[in-house]
Amino acid sequence: MKLLSTLLTAILVAIPAVSAAHTCHCGDTSYDNNEIVGAINEGYSKNNSPTKFSGGYPHKFGNTENLSFEDCMEGTLVEYPLKTKTPWKGGSRPGADRVVYLLGEDKTFCGCMTHTGAKHNKFVECEKSS
Ligand SMILES: *[C@@H]1O[C@H](CO)[C@@H](O)[C@H](O)[C@H]1NC(C)=O
Repeated sequence: MKLLSTLLTAILVAIPAVSAAHTCHCGDTSYDNNEIVGAINEGYSKNNSPTKFSGGYPHKFGNTENLSFEDCMEGTLVEYPLKTKTPWKGGSRPGADRVVYLLGEDKTFCGCMTHTGAKHNKFVECEKSS
């Protein structure tokens, strides 16, 4: 029993480090880890080092809103449209929601943001877990 509970504890402690599952709630829409990571991967594979702040996705996010992405206090923010089910591939409207990640090969997830409930063309942060 002691061994079993030690093992269980070890497994439970190990899980968050192995697979931090991200979720975001933007307005009425919830996004799961696959959708969030899928959007980051799609953005990264389209352009892994965007240089502009507009004109197609992904692009750098200037954050004039001063949104607080606590895991991304240093580095350059990149935004990419966030969609349910399959990643946005261009050719349709990007919608209101975005994933934000750090420029660089680590593809660090920063958070999600949305135009829903924000002043014209600005963003507010979505609720997120992990
Ligand atoms: C964001 O922060 C900068 C620097 O502190 C400040 O000048 C600016 O007014 C802030 N913008 C908003 C929208 O709060």
